[in-house]
Amino acid sequence: MNTFYVTTPIYYANSLPHLGHLYTMIVADSIARAKKQRGIDTYFLTGTDEHGINIERAAEKNGRTPKEQADYVVSYFTRMTSEFGLDTEHGGYDIFMRTTEPFHYEGVSELWRRVAKAKTPHGNDALYKGHYEGWFCAPCAEYKTEDEYQKPKNEGDPPTCLIHDTPLDRVSEESYFFRLSDYEEALLSAYERPDFVRPEARRNEVISFVRGGLQDLSVSRLKTSVSWGVPVPDDPAHTMYVWFDALTNYITAIGFGNEERQKAVGFEKFWPALHLVGKDILRFHAVYWPAFLLAAGVELPRAIVAHGMWLDPNGRKMSKTLGNTIELDVLQKHFSIDAIRYFCLREMVFGQDGRFGYEGLIDRANSDLASGLGNLSSRTLTMIARYCDSRIPSPVIPEDKLLLAKRTGVDTDETTIAGFIEHARNQFLLHFENLAFSRALETAWSVVARVDKMITDAKPWDLAKDENQKPTLSAVLYRAAESLRWLTVLLHPVMPGATHAIWSQLGMEGSPAHINPAELKWGQLKDGAAIGEVQPVFPRIDKVKTMSEINAGEKPVHATEADTAGAPATQPAPPMTHATEADAVGVTSFIEIDDFAKVDLRVGQVLSAERVPKADKLLLMKVDIGEEQPRQILAGIAQYYEPEKLVGRKVVIVANLKPRKLRGYESQGMVVAASYGEEGRPVIATFTEDVPNGARLK
Ligand code: MSP
Repeated sequence: MNTFYVTTPIYYANSLPHLGHLYTMIVADSIARAKKQRGIDTYFLTGTDEHGINIERAAEKNGRTPKEQADYVVSYFTRMTSEFGLDTEHGGYDIFMRTTEPFHYEGVSELWRRVAKAKTPHGNDALYKGHYEGWFCAPCAEYKTEDEYQKPKNEGDPPTCLIHDTPLDRVSEESYFFRLSDYEEALLSAYERPDFVRPEARRNEVISFVRGGLQDLSVSRLKTSVSWGVPVPDDPAHTMYVWFDALTNYITAIGFGNEERQKAVGFEKFWPALHLVGKDILRFHAVYWPAFLLAAGVELPRAIVAHGMWLDPNGRKMSKTLGNTIELDVLQKHFSIDAIRYFCLREMVFGQDGRFGYEGLIDRANSDLASGLGNLSSRTLTMIARYCDSRIPSPVIPEDKLLLAKRTGVDTDETTIAGFIEHARNQFLLHFENLAFSRALETAWSVVARVDKMITDAKPWDLAKDENQKPTLSAVLYRAAESLRWLTVLLHPVMPGATHAIWSQLGMEGSPAHINPAELKWGQLKDGAAIGEVQPVFPRIDKVKTMSEINAGEKPVHATEADTAGAPATQPAPPMTHATEADAVGVTSFIEIDDFAKVDLRVGQVLSAERVPKADKLLLMKVDIGEEQPRQILAGIAQYYEPEKLVGRKVVIVANLKPRKLRGYESQGMVVAASYGEEGRPVIATFTEDVPNGARLK
């Protein structure tokens, strides 16, 4: 039987799910649905990576055991997968793999044993005991990596611990090493298969890395240093290196080293897998993982495909500190799952970095979905309801009406449009197979445009006025409806919900999930069949309203930074009294109420905000404070706020501050913000209840 196995990385159980996680799951889910649609027995894995020092640390910080920490994060992941329709119940993943599963321990121990017995291609032992050397902090009781210590000022001095500010000790501990250096040639020959590591640019990077020479890899730590992990078989004083353990999940999940799992899923049945990974973890997947498998005599993966990173709309890395992350609960609240899935696949050219912003998402959803596919679907079906008594009309223009039809400019030869769509289908499937999702979707939208044009040119509303043109009208609407049927089948893996809805509105039974797009034949839509109730599939999003809701609901920067390992995603921001308490420390003298009354504080709403050229810190805003004209205000907050995120937001303005010129612009007031931390980070004051612009604060 034809089978297929696709995996996402398994995510660290020390931080809550974010857009990066959601993205890879959406890609894997779309691939899996496309395979299932073609009748291929498909297995889709996602899950969590639950061992290692970082999870131990997160657990300690949150007063949990490491397993409790993992369970806690997993509960957020499963909530996310359910809310975004990616879990088994919604036709998504087949397993949520957890490396704390006992069967995983068994499987990973089996792989270790095989590697331990293996000889390298150069005839050496693949695994050997040596010494791991590193900088150790006694008070922390752990080794420190380069980004965890302060480099010494004087050469020869030891580095110091960033936490304790004490010198680190150079310590060497016993460790198992994997003889990676003996696998250079074997790996290089594996990379000769051009589709093994993709895309091409990444493959070249991996090849040069390996050609540059490989160092043997430390694959265990003493239990006294890292205890949260899989014990080394027959030597429990050692804990396996977390990447050895984590990578192996891809085979233990389907039955490697465990009878029960083997029976339930089947290693031989599904292996090898296509691994989807972010480019930041490509080396682990494309160098270490194949080398471990080569040593153990296990077949190499089908492919390792690296995707790019999501950046903010200005091309900057997303980070909590910059406050430019995309929050999953905001996505979930304001956008349909299908719009998010479509945006993810359409906007990121697979393999390259992409830019993700709420505004961009709204624009795409409105142009491509509401005005594009959604409009095509509703105009076609509404006309079928109105002009054809809600039944799929006949595609045939009788001989005696052909001349008449031709006079309207309608192409009487149905095979023209059928040929166009067939060609587009083939291109779509080819791009999809090559994981060029953005191009595949572009191709599908060329069909939307073509059919839209056919309708607009034929003017069915005019044809309907002439009884003699009834067959022409029917033929045009049939072609539109049949094209729509093809589009729903093609697009089903990307937008399962919306395509299912269009399918039912077309009056089709079953689901496009079970129609093989490669077997679509023009004309399978039965004329005479009743269509379903016509309903909008992609309602238009009101951009100003939605942006203002998103911005108003935006969490203060310090709240989103809170304890990524422990805080629930919806945890309310810490109470504002934090700021006033801190400020109170600095109070030296008191003012009279009249002094305060001199300050004219008003409620304002940001109408526009943009960066000031050549001024990194300044934003130029137009703010409505209830006067005839909006105020122009400059604020030194550009390093902390995305201008577009401020639009629609309610703010507090000092309205009677003497105007002054900054960088050639007059600033007619001041935005009130709290300021904290050494760098004086601003947090703009706002309101949690509705309040009209211009209202005074007193
Ligand atoms: N636990 C390891 C993987 C082990 S697989 C055997 C790990 N986990 S992770 O939680 O850090 O998840 C990383 C995945 O999320 C990577 O594929 C990474 O590329 C992806 N992303 C993290 N931030 C991202 C973006 N901003 N954009 C897209 N993907 C991003 O690494």
